[in-house]
Amino acid sequence: MNDVSAEAGRCFGVFGDPVGHSRSPDMHNAAFAALGLPHRYFAFHVRPHALANALTGARGMGLGGLNLTVPHKRAAVAHMDRLSPEAARTGAINTVLIRRGELVGHNTDGAGFLDALAELGGAPPKRAVVLGGGGAARSVIDALRHGEVACDVVWVSREPNRLPALDGVARCGYGDLSDAVAACELLVNATTVGMKGGPEHFVTPLPIDRLVDGARVVDMVYPRAPGGWLDEAARRGARTQDGLATLLWQGVRGLELWLGIALPAAVVATMRRALYR
Ligand SMILES: NC(=O)c1ccc[n+]([C@@H]2O[C@H](COP(=O)([O-])OP(=O)(O)OC[C@H]3O[C@@H](n4cnc5c(N)ncnc54)[C@H](OP(=O)(O)O)[C@@H]3O)[C@@H](O)[C@H]2O)c1
Repeated sequence: MNDVSAEAGRCFGVFGDPVGHSRSPDMHNAAFAALGLPHRYFAFHVRPHALANALTGARGMGLGGLNLTVPHKRAAVAHMDRLSPEAARTGAINTVLIRRGELVGHNTDGAGFLDALAELGGAPPKRAVVLGGGGAARSVIDALRHGEVACDVVWVSREPNRLPALDGVARCGYGDLSDAVAACELLVNATTVGMKGGPEHFVTPLPIDRLVDGARVVDMVYPRAPGGWLDEAARRGARTQDGLATLLWQGVRGLELWLGIALPAAVVATMRRALYR
């Protein structure tokens, strides 16, 4: 175990704007209780202009570790002392390790996404479409490219010319989405569409009717309102998953980094129950 678990109770948390919807406190506090640790995890509403001060505060106060959510994942990179390879490649951080005043930026979203995708069953995908040009999309694409099988990706944005060129990744706008969806085994929504407080609609409706038989469809957003496009995809036979599954597994991987242990399956089950409660 790392030094955090041997000490008296430490404070952990997530910085976001908005952050009131976050299920991370439920999940991590359930894990600390199951592990018999005295730590506590809080949601902190940190606005974009206050991120630098908040990170300096976390460093100075000796917080045990942090998560970063919308809109801080990319902006926080500039404030880290070091980055993991995943965080450096994606330019996005969701987990911060704080050790002796040093901030180390990690990204467990990509690995968590693959862990969650495995729960849907099937072989690793060979062709995927990923929607959105933000931090979540970059993490998912990085994981798909560096996973067991290097998956070909079509990356869809409202402004595809602003996306960086990546090996094995074609960039396009929503006008080309229909043909891309018809040729993919996996469709991932990594935009903020459908997120509480986020936009309600895509720029064009998603061409769910073009999905191939047996396609997998993942919406990174949580919590989602019922009756939306993901439910429509499920009705049409796709294997679907919302963002809670990725949230669970990125959290498991983050907690393992903070504590320096592999979490027992029973603790993971406790975290899952806390999320889906
Ligand atoms: N489940 C999990 O564990 C998990 C992990 C990470 C993220 N997430 C979720 O994933 C979502 C994205 O997070 P993020 O950090 O990537 O956010 P972000 O950096 O703000 O990026 C969101 C992207 O959404 C796209 N977008 C915004 N409005 C849109 C619209 N009306 N139509 C189409 N695209 C639109 C934009 O891409 P373009 O401008 O390029 O079109 C934008 O870059 C959030 O809901 C977040 O909570 C969940």
